[in-house]
Amino acid sequence: MALLQWKDQYSVGIEAVDHEHKELIALINRLHDELTGKGALSSAEAFFGDLFMGISAHFALEERFMREHRYDQLGEHKADHERLLDEIRDMMDELVADESNASEDLSARLDAWFSRHFETHDARLHKALGSHAH
Ligand SMILES: [Fe+2]
Ligand SMILES: [Fe+2]
Repeated sequence: MALLQWKDQYSVGIEAVDHEHKELIALINRLHDELTGKGALSSAEAFFGDLFMGISAHFALEERFMREHRYDQLGEHKADHERLLDEIRDMMDELVADESNASEDLSARLDAWFSRHFETHDARLHKALGSHAH
């Protein structure tokens, strides 16, 4: 089962950005399927490593875009990105320590972060500056 579901409230109002966010969610779901099914990912560490890389790449793109445009809320926005990356590190430690309920907890925490971040920081950024996708 998919870990995360795209929701209309995630939309920032720019199709190219929504598309990128949908791809991020699809990546998370694919990794999760691989971890829980018989795919290539053999361990929680591999899952979180790939998850971290996929999410970091998107954040790096957004942060570069904000720097290039001297965006006024770069600091706050970047801090929220860092908060998720920290939380992913915590989740990995917890999963390694105790695998029970990990997937349910993971989806709730990722979902909460994405809903809030997309609706607030990303919506404001892309309303102000448009899309970084070409
Ligand atoms: Fe984003
Ligand atoms: Fe963002």
